[in-house]
Amino acid sequence: TTGKFTYDPGFTSTASCESSITYIDGDEGTLLYRGYPIDQLAEKSDFMEVAYLLLNGDLPTAEEKTDFSNTITYHTMVHDQMNSLFKGFRRDAHPMAIMVGVVGAMSAFYHDSLDINDPLQRKIASHRMIAKIPTIAAMAYKYSVGQPFVYPRNDMTYAENFLHMTFGVPQCEEYHVSPILANAMDKIFILHADHEQNASTSTVRLAGSSGANPFACIAAGIASLWGPAHGGANEACLNMLEEIGTVDRIPEYIAKAKDKNDPFRLMGFGHRVYKNFDPRAKVLAQSAKEVLDELGVNDPMLDVARELERIALEDPYFIEKKLYPNVDFYSGIILKAMGFPTEMFTVLFALARTTGWISQWGEMIEDPTQKIGRPRQLFTGDKKRDYVEVENR
Ligand code: SDX
Repeated sequence: TTGKFTYDPGFTSTASCESSITYIDGDEGTLLYRGYPIDQLAEKSDFMEVAYLLLNGDLPTAEEKTDFSNTITYHTMVHDQMNSLFKGFRRDAHPMAIMVGVVGAMSAFYHDSLDINDPLQRKIASHRMIAKIPTIAAMAYKYSVGQPFVYPRNDMTYAENFLHMTFGVPQCEEYHVSPILANAMDKIFILHADHEQNASTSTVRLAGSSGANPFACIAAGIASLWGPAHGGANEACLNMLEEIGTVDRIPEYIAKAKDKNDPFRLMGFGHRVYKNFDPRAKVLAQSAKEVLDELGVNDPMLDVARELERIALEDPYFIEKKLYPNVDFYSGIILKAMGFPTEMFTVLFALARTTGWISQWGEMIEDPTQKIGRPRQLFTGDKKRDYVEVENR
């Protein structure tokens, strides 16, 4: 009645869950957050609005947006004792290892009094998670480069605050956050915020279905996202482009990707769902050019990426397999131009996806029919047999 989608019973019987948050049509290359097309949100909205939309189901009024933004802003600082957690890691620890550990440890700081059956406490926990994840991500970066942590500020937007905490240094109190970078960062956050029931979101839902606290569930999602087949692909894609190095070496890698005996896959290409262009890749392709032009960065890697995309899109193998560039193909180029090391790329993905994860967690917890998750298996092992003493084996 309200334009909602309906599915035939057969679909729902095989689906892992029902959700009204994000809709993807892989064949059409469509991605909707609560019905709004991702390209319109990336162009016209900002991350705070999108976070409100994912959490609450509709775009906020001006007053709701101000209240929500202030709530998030005023919870960006982490408990001071959390600073000590970082010191337990080696300086060269991968920032994703730090993220899994520190976000999981939030359970010890913010969970003891949390009743997840209380809607108000769920909202507070969700706001805390969204507010503190940029601070923790920036702290992970600062720790890895041996610089002091920079505290969040209340006079900055979500993206500005994150860039300030990441690249600001105490001796330059007035670190100037470039509007170009802040706008690109905000757009990247929007594009990565949610994506239906991907591996990491399903991990968060499965962990949450047992009643585990939301902070531990988000840590589980971060662990799943880390894999190179999933969120780790942006880091792997940039490493692949660096390894290719020049346009003339592209055919060699295309051949490797097509060789069934070679485990190599083109990072940033293909998708479990999209058998058409990932709509996020289209937005990022345009954004990559804008950011590099505006920053005056002439990165030969962008030329390699564009030529690789052109060749792959014309190659009969990729056409037959319906392999297109995905969200990770261009994001790494933009993030590199913005000054992030490759190890931080998946951290940024996790930062943005935390809003989608916590929205999906809340939707699951609020579902009165929700039971503990129990994925089925197809048993392929031995039939029943009797024990054999060791001397008879
Ligand atoms: C993300 O699910 C999500 O929504 C995830 C995500 C999100 O927002 O949460 O969108 C984020 O994870 C994007 C994907 C990032 N990963 C990468 O870029 C890594 C490289 N791509 C892949 O490893 C691969 O494409 C997957 C894992 C993404 C999908 O793998 P599938 O499900 O096996 O892909 P498929 O079934 O469509 O493959 C069809 C064929 C297969 O060959 P055959 O078995 O038919 O002979 O294409 C081959 C695959 O082997 N293939 C590739 C390829 N991806 C698939 N061949 C070369 N290079 C590739 N990248």
